[in-house]
Amino acid sequence: MNVLVLGSGGREHAISWKLSQSSQLDKLFIAPGNAGTSALGTNVDLDVMDFKAVGQFCLDNEINVAVVGPEAPLVAGIHDYFADMPELKGVTIIGPKKAGAQLEGSKEFSKDFMARYNIPTAKYLSVEKKNLAEGKAFLETMKAPYVLKADGLAAGKGVLIIEDLKEAKKALETMLNGQFGDASKKVVIEQFLDGIEVSCFAITDGRSYKILPSAKDYKRIGEGDTGLNTGGMGAISPVPFANREFIDKVDNQVIIPTIKGLIADGIDYSGFLFFGLMCVKGDPYVIEYNCRMGDPETEVVMPRLKSDLLELFEGIATGTLSERDVEIDPRTAVTVMMVSGGYPEAYEKGKAISGLNNVSESTVFHAGTKEQGGIPVSNGGRVLAVTSYGKNIDDALKKSYGTLENISFEGAYYRKDIGFDLESTEKK
Ligand code: AMP
Ligand code: GLY
Repeated sequence: MNVLVLGSGGREHAISWKLSQSSQLDKLFIAPGNAGTSALGTNVDLDVMDFKAVGQFCLDNEINVAVVGPEAPLVAGIHDYFADMPELKGVTIIGPKKAGAQLEGSKEFSKDFMARYNIPTAKYLSVEKKNLAEGKAFLETMKAPYVLKADGLAAGKGVLIIEDLKEAKKALETMLNGQFGDASKKVVIEQFLDGIEVSCFAITDGRSYKILPSAKDYKRIGEGDTGLNTGGMGAISPVPFANREFIDKVDNQVIIPTIKGLIADGIDYSGFLFFGLMCVKGDPYVIEYNCRMGDPETEVVMPRLKSDLLELFEGIATGTLSERDVEIDPRTAVTVMMVSGGYPEAYEKGKAISGLNNVSESTVFHAGTKEQGGIPVSNGGRVLAVTSYGKNIDDALKKSYGTLENISFEGAYYRKDIGFDLESTEKK
């Protein structure tokens, strides 16, 4: 099979790495890819939002499967574009159509969906300018801190958590007045959930589904989970508290009702489902849905997937996912993200990366790199994800940190405390 992976981050490198191990793979293309993916396949200079160009590339290169890494093309309807073009019918898109991608593309849609199907989530109210007064009154009924979410995609920045009621009311108005452009024309006010977050994943052909390994990601830039939010500074899988009992609850209370709800709503959903959960006193609550894999979670989930990913994609293509096995590696996988100095605020690109040729105990997934003059240089805020296996979290982390000591580029930074909140759970 010929496969095209859309995207350029660590997630796409990890998916490409996994696909490249498949005996079913003929040609692998990554658009636009990075300096890491070029070692596994052919990088293609395509804009993932230019559906016409992506479609033409698929025709020209006899692509069988196109895996959509990021959410933006899914929310904008790349799958619908392919479905509407008779000549592209032979290309299986891994990722839902626009209707299904609304689970991520609209907070209001996802909250209403969860309410409709009794999926545990925080209490909420969706507010527009016309019911601003109702929104403020709703805030008065809640306890601090107050959670305000832009309805639409806001590059991961659309969630505000505010301590003071007066400030929250003001922020609600500012958001509705276009703080995040069209994305905050509607704002969802949510009850604050106090717990610990975990990311759970499933792959589905719309009828059956398979649960993939869960992971915990570390979103803040600073050690001890302090400072600004980032795209993710590291991840760990499995998550010690997300044990069998917890995952059974997730399955019964979240995953099954989600799949059934999608069917009941007439939404033909295929691809990945990402459940961003808060574990509150041992019970799962959905904080958000995503219609794609997580990043950096993919950099620990793919290494723990023993089954052939391309065979699972084939299961989606033929509606036979139920007949496929998902075998999971029992080892722990961790990833530590090496980022550009200054990230998530202003940072410089184009820094030469050294030490990548002497890696033995880890797998380095490129997140934001490109080749320049024959060498890899930084090309984003998140630059490299260093993944290692171990018999437990400490063991795996030791390897990633050992590898990181030998890799460098000017201004590089990484958190040295990934997993800091989990070790004690594990040792119990
Ligand atoms: P989201 O974009 O919906 O994932 O929200 C971004 C982050 O805000 C999440 O990863 C949580 O850390 C936090 N968050 C979102 N909703 C809530 C909530 N209802 N209670 C507590 N924290 C939340
Ligand atoms: N790591 C969180 C995300 O991919 O949205």
